[in-house]
Amino acid sequence: MTLSCATPRDQSMWLYKVRSATSELLYSIKAILETARMNMRLLRRREFWTIDIVIVRPVTLAKRGPFGLNKIHRVKAPYNHFQMRRPLLLGAILVTGGSGFIGSNFIRMLLAEDHQNQVVNLDSLSYGSNPANLRDLEDRKNYRFVKGDICDLELVRKISAGVEVVVNFAAETHVDRSISNPEPFLRTNALGVLNLLEACRSNDLRFVQVSTDEVYGSSSDGRAFKETDRLEASSPYSASKAAADHLAQAYHKTYGLKALITRCTNNFGPYQFPEKFIPKAIIRAHKNLKIPVYGSGRQIRDWIHVLDHCEALALVMQNGRDGEIYNIAGGNQIENVLAAETILKILGRPFSLVEHVQDRPGHDFRYRLDSSKIQDELGWKPKRSFDSGLRETVRWYLDNERWWLSIADDKMLSATPWKEKW
Ligand SMILES: NC(=O)c1ccc[n+]([C@@H]2O[C@H](COP(=O)([O-])OP(=O)(O)OC[C@H]3O[C@@H](n4cnc5c(N)ncnc54)[C@H](O)[C@@H]3O)[C@@H](O)[C@H]2O)c1
Repeated sequence: MTLSCATPRDQSMWLYKVRSATSELLYSIKAILETARMNMRLLRRREFWTIDIVIVRPVTLAKRGPFGLNKIHRVKAPYNHFQMRRPLLLGAILVTGGSGFIGSNFIRMLLAEDHQNQVVNLDSLSYGSNPANLRDLEDRKNYRFVKGDICDLELVRKISAGVEVVVNFAAETHVDRSISNPEPFLRTNALGVLNLLEACRSNDLRFVQVSTDEVYGSSSDGRAFKETDRLEASSPYSASKAAADHLAQAYHKTYGLKALITRCTNNFGPYQFPEKFIPKAIIRAHKNLKIPVYGSGRQIRDWIHVLDHCEALALVMQNGRDGEIYNIAGGNQIENVLAAETILKILGRPFSLVEHVQDRPGHDFRYRLDSSKIQDELGWKPKRSFDSGLRETVRWYLDNERWWLSIADDKMLSATPWKEKW
């Protein structure tokens, strides 16, 4: 074995060459890498530098290491959200579910940040997607759309073969629908993720699972959940997301897959499907219809602007530690009824348009996350306030009526969607 190393102070590059190794040695190397990462974080230097770590392993050990040590690990550090405009070091990125709300914002951000990014979007274009979300990007040379299902293992294997990382947004996402018809949720959100994990395992890829605060269940005492808290899903939707989280962790522990999980609070912003609370409230109020709030409307959600979420995801994708979970919280704890009233205020409509309707079964009262881990480790912080973000979002829906007009029918805007047949 030879091990050569130059400090980042000298030339921003560490080179490790391992010609023969035992599995214990792989553990040691992992420890060295972790120490290097920690040191980088501690340095917190403002300038931008890159560390390349090259590990050459004997073929016989290629699949054995529990940490999936790869040919090239590239780590940029220190990193904070002001450096989002720096080029991404990762190669091609497969985004699954990229034609939906958060996925399309994420792809837009990746392609706006750096023209070198290669993005492949695999989406089945189910009801929650809107091809118009990314239509203006269709001619871009570094963007490719593939219509397909993450439950199709062969397809997923084939598409992921040429990429470096998979970021999974693909999911059935409406809690109310999961109450009425849970099966599609388990199919896509759990079995679909199993396929993605298998494809990442056979192609040795990094995998980011975009999960949700809902997996922790309700915070009855108002405590903010940490990544180490146990999962207590309440709805078929959150149960299917929790299943995917467990699978991703199991693939990391069992096969050394470079899997990472993010759990984010409620998103708002442009391109969100009209059946979700904020766009539904905007569209209904705009049409002078009542805004339905479940029960007392005192349930609390922590709202985050979708672009703050996307920036956090980009950081995790590049610099997150394999096998780790990162909570992402907006820090805007607001009662549902107050969110509805804020929308009415922005639109200049009376608060009497708020209508209290029958609560849905298993409704979590409050979600609350502690996101100090991603803040401390990756330097992320949400930048957008709820008030200004919401104003911009309302403006976007008013300016883009053509985007939602054909999809926002009566059923989609239903006051109690969990009672509908889907
Ligand atoms: N919206 C939120 O507030 C929020 C908060 C936290 C986490 N999340 C998670 O973020 C992810 C994206 O959420 P969103 O709000 O953008 O959802 P969305 O419903 O807007 O988008 C989901 C996308 O996945 C695609 N899709 C569904 N099934 C598929 C399949 N089998 N194969 C391929 N594509 C498929 C849909 O066509 C759609 O484009 C989800 O995994 C969700 O659980 C969302």
